[in-house]
Amino acid sequence: MIIAVDGPTASGKGTIAKALAAHFNLPHLDTGLLYRAVGRQVALDGGNPDDAGDALAACSFPDSLLEDPELRSEASGGLASRVSVHPAVRQALYDRQRAFATQAGGAVLDGRDIGTVIAPEAPAKLFIVASVDARAQRRFLEMQAQGRAITLEEIAADLEARDRRDRERAEAPLRAADDAVTLDTSDLGKDAAIAAAIALVDKAFA
Ligand code: C5P
Repeated sequence: MIIAVDGPTASGKGTIAKALAAHFNLPHLDTGLLYRAVGRQVALDGGNPDDAGDALAACSFPDSLLEDPELRSEASGGLASRVSVHPAVRQALYDRQRAFATQAGGAVLDGRDIGTVIAPEAPAKLFIVASVDARAQRRFLEMQAQGRAITLEEIAADLEARDRRDRERAEAPLRAADDAVTLDTSDLGKDAAIAAAIALVDKAFA
């Protein structure tokens, strides 16, 4: 029972994936965190995220880095989207994600290429979308709650830049798998979005 949840930044895919994992009693992997850790490790090493060699070297980040709250920042998201264009980085992170996806009993993974590359055989694939305005507003509230100083305009510009990079990269670009079901969360509150996602997965497994 593999559930693949893909979509752009701040579409609600992380919240939905976590809730699906709790509902179906499955382990959950936020694959964006792995790319964020690589981006952060490059910065800690004083390397260049646009350099494939520097980015690949950072793939051997220590597991303890995954606990670093700095990974949740917009800066780490931007670095993640820069290191994630390198095919060698994607390859280096593949085995870990694939092993998680194929563990006995199943799993929920969220990211950009779960339904297309990591687990194309997943019987339930959701592609979560939302308008830029809705996503920027959500991210803004999240950042405010964390006490991070950033404006709504800066967040919207950052989201659009990341979307563009993620959609236009040659390797594993952000796109819905042909058999994915798209869920637009622009006008849905958190509970309604989760309920809609559960209903779609129930239908996929029916
Ligand atoms: O999902 P999150 O915003 O944490 O992801 C950060 C960045 O990592 C994305 O913008 C994307 O460039 C990259 N990523 C990816 N493939 C994944 C997950 C994340 O390329 N499966």
